[in-house]
Amino acid sequence: MIFHIPWIYVPVRNVLAIWHQLTKYEIPELTKPSVIMRDRGRVEEIIRNMHRAGPGALQVISDFDMTLTRFAFNGKRCPTSHNILDNSSLISEECTSKLANLLSHYYPIEIDNSLSVEEKVPHMVEWWTRAHDLLVQQRIKKDQLAKAVRESDAMLRDGYEVFFGSLKDHSIPLLIFSAGLGDILEEVIKHNGVFHPNIRVFSNYMEFDENGVLCSFKGQLIHTFNKREGALLNPDQFEQLQDRPNILLLGDSMGDLTMADGVQNVQNILRIGYLNDKVEERRDAYVGSYDIVLVKDETLDVPNAILNYITEGK
Ligand code: TMP
Ligand code: MG
Repeated sequence: MIFHIPWIYVPVRNVLAIWHQLTKYEIPELTKPSVIMRDRGRVEEIIRNMHRAGPGALQVISDFDMTLTRFAFNGKRCPTSHNILDNSSLISEECTSKLANLLSHYYPIEIDNSLSVEEKVPHMVEWWTRAHDLLVQQRIKKDQLAKAVRESDAMLRDGYEVFFGSLKDHSIPLLIFSAGLGDILEEVIKHNGVFHPNIRVFSNYMEFDENGVLCSFKGQLIHTFNKREGALLNPDQFEQLQDRPNILLLGDSMGDLTMADGVQNVQNILRIGYLNDKVEERRDAYVGSYDIVLVKDETLDVPNAILNYITEGK
């Protein structure tokens, strides 16, 4: 029978193979050694769907600390938005040391693979509450925040100009969900000259008194593992984004995986996770949950390449 003639099979198989490897040629960054994918075929299918729908159907939902910012530079840890303040001259030495003690106690709990999210949550609430109480005692002035950021070692990941620039150029909304400090992270983005109008930030914002002195924190506390609630509790913020059914999600914590839960009618979601620390212990959990895992990758090369492919010629 004709279907049994091998020469028919060969070209068909070749065509399928070429189709399957399309993104390998279009997006060579996906072959970087830092990239791990549980299901390459599925990733390619999602990216192809997003390319077909174009930038008008896309939104980017991202974490900030250790996702848009570098985890380390020249072998030295980079600060989170909290750390920028903790290590600045706006804080007394005693307070800096208390905040460092909190970090060394609670951070290992945050990233402990043997604990469930439910077990971690009370510790995270305790950490954030204690840290924010300490900050409020320091009478920090609003007009000194920019200086603290300028003098810090905070760095956006390599390739940030292309990332922020291409989202702006294609009018793709960038939603930043951060358990860090909103006032500080905005300063980091402004300091790097990329705080474009397509950016919206959900984070812990400071309340200042009439003298511009920090007196409390606004609204519900956001910690690493309740970003999902934040998204669900803010349906108005997502309303105008409901017509963008494709989501590129960037995170570095398991808590970041649910950041897009407030968006309805999602058609395609691609979750990219930065695995910065405790790689061996956490690799399996990350590969099981994120579509693309970037291991000790300090760049935005992969998200940039995917965005470039999606927006190509549009
Ligand atoms: P996020 O990146 O998920 O938004 O979380 C913010 C990070 O901030 C999280 O990894 C813990 C860290 N953090 C500090 O470094 N210092 C602090 O005082 C607190 C409360 C959190
Ligand atoms: Mg983070």
